[in-house]
Amino acid sequence: MTDLMIDRTPAPIGSGLILGIESSCDETAAAVVRTGSEVLSNIVATQIALHGAYGGVVPELASREHLRNLVPVVRAALAQAHVRFDELDAVAVTEGPGLAGALLVGIMYSKALALGLGKPLLAVNHLEGHIHAVLMHSRTAHEFPLLALVVSGGHTHLYLAEAAIDGPWRYRNVGRTVDDAAGEAYDKVAKLLGLGYPGGPWLDAFASHGDPRAVPFAFAQIRPRIPAPDQRQRFDFSFSGIKTAVLRYVQAHALSATIEARRAILAQSPHLRPTEAASLCDPQTLNLIASFQSAVVGNLLRQTFAAAEAFGVRGLLVSGGVAANRELRTRFTAEAGRRSLPVAFPSIALSTDNAAMIAAAAWPKFLARDFAPDSLAAQPQLQLG
Ligand code: KG4
Ligand code: ZN
Repeated sequence: MTDLMIDRTPAPIGSGLILGIESSCDETAAAVVRTGSEVLSNIVATQIALHGAYGGVVPELASREHLRNLVPVVRAALAQAHVRFDELDAVAVTEGPGLAGALLVGIMYSKALALGLGKPLLAVNHLEGHIHAVLMHSRTAHEFPLLALVVSGGHTHLYLAEAAIDGPWRYRNVGRTVDDAAGEAYDKVAKLLGLGYPGGPWLDAFASHGDPRAVPFAFAQIRPRIPAPDQRQRFDFSFSGIKTAVLRYVQAHALSATIEARRAILAQSPHLRPTEAASLCDPQTLNLIASFQSAVVGNLLRQTFAAAEAFGVRGLLVSGGVAANRELRTRFTAEAGRRSLPVAFPSIALSTDNAAMIAAAAWPKFLARDFAPDSLAAQPQLQLG
């Protein structure tokens, strides 16, 4: 198929208004962001209730919901920002990684919108979006090289990042999970314990009621199967072992009956929020949860600060859904303080999936006129760096 030849050269910078669109997983999101840092609106339609019944995201249902939600979500984002379609300077959309069908809905819509408006289209890597969520309101306050930890339901990555002010960023992956992502471990352990989906907010709320030293969990050292050709160090993660260790603990301590009772109570009260439900867990389960979280956060902390030291970075950015975790924020902030290393997180609302981060990551691309081709396609396995 030949690309349509359309001149979409924008006015030089205009007022820097970018409409971001995100549909890579189970949130349909749209946002208007000015010059990559000022969030004028941020609308997220979550599908948690729909997928919660299955304990995880069902790809076909996700695509169908994106189709249903995208137009109203975009309209709401423009209305909240008091911006008209013709005032936008560009449309930015998540290109990958993510679920193929879900990504496709956002990409097809964004292509049609950009074409209809005669505005440029920008393609954004979802992982780069998470990193740029941290830069909202502080885009020029960071010194390079930076180390970025992106820790979510689908990813646990460490990236070295370099950039010129407002220029495109360059990334090198120096750590990734060899099996489950940290958020995936949270979700699986919460499910195993009869708690709600997604598991992160539940375990976060309950962990503060337990003893983090009650159950000792150990992490294996991850060695690369193939040494990096340039002998540079890697800082990989593994979270499937701790999930199995929690399962063994549950079996050895005969917790199944209390778990099933809890599952039944939550099924009867689907609107119960994690902060209202700590009484659902006995002290032994609260200790198990506190120990799980302490071990996961401790592992993320050790690997991240070891990489920060090895690469001599000037600052840390921590983002992704798990970066909403309170213990993680407290311990990373304390450790960074001890080392006099600046650390930054997004706001809680911008930690989980959203479209403001997509519009923010698109800003340096917009300035560099790095526009997406008309042949833009979904990249479910897209990597960064
Ligand atoms: O970034 P995100 O919204 O979607 C992905 O790109 O995966 O992250 C969702 C993940 C889920 O696994 C969820 O359990 C986890 O982030 N999460 C948390 C917290 N809030 C969300 N994990 C730990 N503590 C939290 N407070
Ligand atoms: Zn994400």
